[in-house]
Amino acid sequence: MNLISKLPTVGTTIFTVMSKMAVDHNAINLSQGFPNFPVDPILVDLLKQKASDNIHQYNPMAGNPLLMNEIVVLIEKSYQRQLKVESELLVTAGATQAIFTTIQALVGKGEEVVILDPSYDCYESPIILAGGIPKRISLNDEFLPDWEIINSTVNEKTKLIITNNPHNPSGRIWTESDMKEFENLLHKYPNLMVLSDEVYEYISFENKHLSVHANEFLRSRSIVVSSFGKTFHITGWKIGYLVAPEFIMNEIKKVHQFLVFCVNSVAQNVLADYLPLVKTENLGGFYQEKRDFFRERMQQSRFELMPCEGTYFQLASFHAISHESDIDFTKRLVTEFGVATIPLSVFNTDLKDRKMIRFCFAKDNETLIQATDRLCKI
Ligand SMILES: Cc1ncc(COP(=O)(O)O)c(C=O)c1O
Repeated sequence: MNLISKLPTVGTTIFTVMSKMAVDHNAINLSQGFPNFPVDPILVDLLKQKASDNIHQYNPMAGNPLLMNEIVVLIEKSYQRQLKVESELLVTAGATQAIFTTIQALVGKGEEVVILDPSYDCYESPIILAGGIPKRISLNDEFLPDWEIINSTVNEKTKLIITNNPHNPSGRIWTESDMKEFENLLHKYPNLMVLSDEVYEYISFENKHLSVHANEFLRSRSIVVSSFGKTFHITGWKIGYLVAPEFIMNEIKKVHQFLVFCVNSVAQNVLADYLPLVKTENLGGFYQEKRDFFRERMQQSRFELMPCEGTYFQLASFHAISHESDIDFTKRLVTEFGVATIPLSVFNTDLKDRKMIRFCFAKDNETLIQATDRLCKI
């Protein structure tokens, strides 16, 4: 049979390749973005308690009402935004589903969607599946928005711009001036919408993350995506949520109901009880300690560390060590030195090679010690 692929250029992602190489070579895995330390025991206890309750059937399509009320409280506390729970909030199977659903709901054939590279890998394929045209443009050399290029790329055919702040893979966060430029752009294009991927919203350090939630004008045209996986170290639970104004949400819900109908009931019930007990504001400090620990130990190495203001990723240049391509270099790091990382070029559509790699420091201290010992020997 002649099966014509709808995504002919898509293969196995580097995240899968690197994680497999890490296992095959018994390497320390600083590649994929997931924590390797235990989750909060309170969360585990709640899970055990709740498992015997009558919570195992379908939940309402938009989300479990108890959880949704708690999310409303969290967003009000974090960003002073008051949400209409029944029309502006949707619980999703992680940020990935939120992003896929939003793009299917909003983007039509021939409509353009701007992506800022380097970018996370789940934006482009849903655009292609929707018949849209991805317009991938580069962030500047500091990994912040290049407003000149953005302004010259956005046009009347641009339906959506996808932003990611705090930023994976660079760990940079937007400034007040970026938010102002963003407002100016939206003023110029009244039909432009924003998909704001803020899965690392609670992981920022010296400078605090500026959310679209906190900006009345920006949020009136934005879909803001969050991930409990990132916030509570439970990436395997695949649960998150999105917030959008009602006129956008109505379209998103039409797709959501046929994609998942509703999200895992057990996870929703457990998180409904957990949310009032946790302080998301402590998360930044928790990861700041890990960042500082990792950076301090890497001072002895020949890697040059880039600024890291948020997320749990650290970019590093290896230009003083090797002239290899970043992909070859990361493969050699696994096989010869036993540390798995991610080459930066795979986050770019043109595979631009800046001789940089990404480390994930969401690991226990023992893992970070072993990994940095090895990295300092290179
Ligand atoms: C920028 C970004 N967006 C979205 C996701 C996906 O989040 P989730 O696991 O909740 O689907 C990730 C996960 O690494 C990410 O880094």
